Amino acid sequence: MIVAIDGPAGSGKSSTARAVARRLGFHHLDSGAFYRTLTLAALRAGIPAESWPRLGPDDLEGLAVSARPADRGYRFFVAGEDVTEEIRAPEVNAHVSRMARIRAVRQWLLAQLRRAAEGQDLVADGRDMGTVVFPHADLKIFLTASPETRARRRLAERDITDPDPDTLRAETERLLERDRIDSEREVAPLRRADNAVLIDTTGLGFAEQVDRVVQLIEARRRSGPGRLGD
Ligand code: DC
Repeated sequence: MIVAIDGPAGSGKSSTARAVARRLGFHHLDSGAFYRTLTLAALRAGIPAESWPRLGPDDLEGLAVSARPADRGYRFFVAGEDVTEEIRAPEVNAHVSRMARIRAVRQWLLAQLRRAAEGQDLVADGRDMGTVVFPHADLKIFLTASPETRARRRLAERDITDPDPDTLRAETERLLERDRIDSEREVAPLRRADNAVLIDTTGLGFAEQVDRVVQLIEARRRSGPGRLGD
């Protein structure tokens, strides 16, 4: 079974997908982490962001990134070094949208993402899981929340639980800018698939959010085989 969860930055996709996978014994594929690892590798290699649009498959291979299954998810590596924590750094946040809008990069990752799904129950989260990577997923979910809620969650991840208004405004603006780049890009823009179930998590606690997704998966399982078209 493939469950595709898409949505904007800070909507809780990855944390929800991870918790759902643990609860149901599925594997979790955090597709954003693949874009983040490539971004970190390019930054470390000193390749200026202006020349990223010219990266070809050989250059991407040369960045020596890899993902290895571990504990129901993946760990990410650059030249053999485990960078799973480092790919969340602000510098990567600030550059990853530029990497994710490059057609050659998306094409290169498409095959890897699909390969990761072979032969296992999977919860995949990102921006185009239901529209491009897994158009025939068994269940598609689009998670969203108000920009302020999403900004507060992102700050809380960095232990800023009671932000002052300037900090909150700056974080909201950064998120909206990433949403804009992700939604307006030519290739695989962020959008809700026509047959995705919309869940607005603005007023929901984390446990409730996870419960809703688990309930949808269980209902889908009860309704028997047969994949969705797009
Ligand atoms: O979900 P995230 O914040 O880790 O995503 C990092 C970036 O990668 C974000 O700018 C959107 C992009 N991304 C994408 O374009 N397609 C995906 N399937 C997943 C992430």
